[in-house]
Amino acid sequence: MAHTLAVAHTTDDGKANLDTYGYTVHEDFLSPGELAALRQRLEEQAELERAEGVAVLSGSGHAASDKYIGAPKPNERIGYQEVRHLPNKGRVFLDVLHKPVIHDYATHLFRGEAYNAASHNGVFLSSGSSRQVLHADQQAIPLILDRPVMFVMMICLSDFDADMGATLVAPGSHRFPAPDLRADPDEQVRAIGSELVPLTAKAGSVLLWESRTWHCAGASTSDKTRVSIGVAWAQHFIKPQDFFPAVIHDDVYPTLTDTDKELLGFRVVREYAGAIGPRWPGDQRSNTNVRHPYVPELVKGGTKRAVPLDGAAAVPGR
Ligand SMILES: [Fe+2]
Repeated sequence: MAHTLAVAHTTDDGKANLDTYGYTVHEDFLSPGELAALRQRLEEQAELERAEGVAVLSGSGHAASDKYIGAPKPNERIGYQEVRHLPNKGRVFLDVLHKPVIHDYATHLFRGEAYNAASHNGVFLSSGSSRQVLHADQQAIPLILDRPVMFVMMICLSDFDADMGATLVAPGSHRFPAPDLRADPDEQVRAIGSELVPLTAKAGSVLLWESRTWHCAGASTSDKTRVSIGVAWAQHFIKPQDFFPAVIHDDVYPTLTDTDKELLGFRVVREYAGAIGPRWPGDQRSNTNVRHPYVPELVKGGTKRAVPLDGAAAVPGR
């Protein structure tokens, strides 16, 4: 029987969808005002990245070999543009990370374990963008786990029709080992009794799939451009795609609240991962809960000196 798309308006329904199918569509995630503000800021940024020759572009999609950074080539058909590292590119992109719906889902999926943002990028997908290889985002872990180590949320800034490169998911695949990247995707999906379902949605929705769920970006054959923001959230000990403590610009860092920093991975949880130290004497960038003194190579008779912490104790991450 054909799968009916799992749609939620509450996180209780969405959590049940995630448990059963490994994904959910959550409608009306954004207010109309939030949707307009995010889309306006993302489109302006994308236009100027093309104009300034720093755009991430591809004729044929996300993982394509023709992906490059620069200005569009003359007469080039752009199938894909990515706007990377959004926390550096407008407060509106940081604000959306605070929405309680996200953290309700994250707490459920990660069983209360701490987590942080692992990537935060905008994507424009147009006709010509091709289907991605079927995979699970925790493909590198060759085990069946009882929970995901990561999940992706894709915020829809336009409608997502099936022919606009809507992500294809295999409902229920989160209970199986990751697919073989070289084997036929449709046969593998059939073998586990599933099917590939396009995640269609209205603008303002958010799509969530967890990192055990088999999925791939779909091909776009539409005249319409699909606009989205993708944020990956990972458990705190997983190496993130984008390490925000190193990505955040020096002029953005002082604007961050402690909560912003924790969402971006500046907190060290139980001494596991992500400790950062001063890069030069006087560097103020630090974890939210650990500080280290500046300690260079110290040589008798040498000129380099350590800088002890100014009153604040260097405590291990808790
Ligand atoms: Fe993926």
